[in-house]
Amino acid sequence: MATTPTYEDRLKDFSWSLAEQELGYRKGDPLNIGWHCSDRLCRQGLADKTALVWEDFSGATKTYTFDDLRVLSNTFAAHLQGLGIQPGERVCLFMDRVPELYLGFLGGLKMGAVVQPLFSAFGADSLWTRLDDAGTTAIVTQRKHVAKVRKLLDKLPQLRHVILVDAGDGPLRERESGLDLHALPRVETFDAHPTGPETPSVLHYTSGTTGQPKGAQHVHYSLISQYLTAKWVLDLRPDDVYWCNADPGWVTGTSYGIIGPWANGVTQVVLDSGFNAEKWYDFMARRGVTVWYSAPTAIRLLMREGSDLVRKHDLSRLRHLCSVGEPLNAEAVVWSQEAFGKPFHDTYWQTETGCMMITNFPGMKVKPGSMGKPFPGITATVLDPNTNLPHEGTGRVGLIAIRPGWPSQIRGYWNNQAGYERKFVNGWYICGDRASIDADGYYWFVGRDDDVINTGGHLVGPFEIESALLEHPAVAESAAVAKPDPVNMEVVKAFVTLKPGIAPDDDLELEIMNFIRKKLSPLAMPQEIEFTDSLPKTRSGKIVRRILRAREFGEPEGDLSTLMSE
Ligand code: WT7
Repeated sequence: MATTPTYEDRLKDFSWSLAEQELGYRKGDPLNIGWHCSDRLCRQGLADKTALVWEDFSGATKTYTFDDLRVLSNTFAAHLQGLGIQPGERVCLFMDRVPELYLGFLGGLKMGAVVQPLFSAFGADSLWTRLDDAGTTAIVTQRKHVAKVRKLLDKLPQLRHVILVDAGDGPLRERESGLDLHALPRVETFDAHPTGPETPSVLHYTSGTTGQPKGAQHVHYSLISQYLTAKWVLDLRPDDVYWCNADPGWVTGTSYGIIGPWANGVTQVVLDSGFNAEKWYDFMARRGVTVWYSAPTAIRLLMREGSDLVRKHDLSRLRHLCSVGEPLNAEAVVWSQEAFGKPFHDTYWQTETGCMMITNFPGMKVKPGSMGKPFPGITATVLDPNTNLPHEGTGRVGLIAIRPGWPSQIRGYWNNQAGYERKFVNGWYICGDRASIDADGYYWFVGRDDDVINTGGHLVGPFEIESALLEHPAVAESAAVAKPDPVNMEVVKAFVTLKPGIAPDDDLELEIMNFIRKKLSPLAMPQEIEFTDSLPKTRSGKIVRRILRAREFGEPEGDLSTLMSE
């Protein structure tokens, strides 16, 4: 039996063209992710293979073959076309993890739209910011979420279509229509729009320190590296049953919850339900999950429930475990070895990178607490923040930087090319995180290099929260910072000064928390509000979050010389 190539083997003579060859793509050909994840596999004899097994919290189940993916995404694509939606227009998917989300993703790409997935727990303000910035033409949603969209219609004249996948016989309003994918006549053939490698594909909004979230613009060529990283790092093989916990509202849920695994022709299982340890193990046992891509917050929650619960379920088919989104602490790796008999393999990447950058490659020694080494074809380093040149020697903390040019790198931020260009220095793409590299070439994460809050693997931008806080009638000024949390790593804490004559109390704290939860999302909701008489500011009046954050983490407050005296 041929042995699996090692990391070192893969590094030798690496070229992305390897993935192009495996996918049968030649320069000059059209390239369409929707077609690659369905039609191509059917042509290769996988038409009857199970592509998706979907289950919800109530136990309802639906199963789709690759031929079903092909036909139902055709049907979806033809429907969008029939509404007059043009290639290049933005089509937002605003749904729970229902099958229509997955089929709509492929269908939207097939007809040439730019697919904009948004997390269904977003409130009206978060939704508005992203639909307005993207100039979105159509939103596909469910009845349970449509109220949030209806509130915004007056402010979104360009949003011509609100498409409900579960309209039923219920009343519809202006601009609304129903799309019952399973009842429409099946569209057996559909000519995918001849998108090229550089045609925009997916638009994911991601938070930064300043300003509102930015639209990370992916292109169809991302397929090349999403396919290969899924194959090599998730170690996907033809008989696998693969489970990715992530919601396609975030990049993990599209790169590795749709594109990577399906381009590899692998069966995926989806559980449309919140976290519950017992339910998760039961689901994995019943579905015979072999490869699992999860996140540190979920792993820490499972850890809390102990390894006895793991042993009550037959997880003998589980073969490979990976993690992403936040630092995977060494204890979690050690625990998974004890509980599942195998370690979680940490992977590091971002919305902007589109695919994994630094990974614990299968077969490579796992050093608990380390993110591993750069994927073959990825040139990474850590830069000295003073010189922006790679650190000499090992073990020194610097800025994680990647040489541009890998296939799934975004091509820009929507409407904000200047913002994207600011992420490059001396020919390196700067991720905005700090790490060190040890003598064996392993990367060790240290922290973010900005004020973005990472809560349970989800980035939330302080600016978006502060802007929403200022809309509350009692709030005069605000600062949102991270506060350490044993499970979610970080949660949002808000510092607030109140308008004259308003006194703080517990009711007001709760009211403001709820205000943010509804406007933005449960993720962005501060877990604590500290009312204060003043906020630390620079002499020019800019609020300095760095100091508030340092206090929360019990870290030194750094240089205070440029501050106004409090
Ligand atoms: C940020 C990117 C990539 C998919 C999910 C998040 C943090 C990501 C790790 C890791 C430590 C990590 C970084 C990064 N992050 N993976 N393995 N160890 N931190 O995508 O929302 O764009 O967030 O998440 O800070 O920059 P994203």
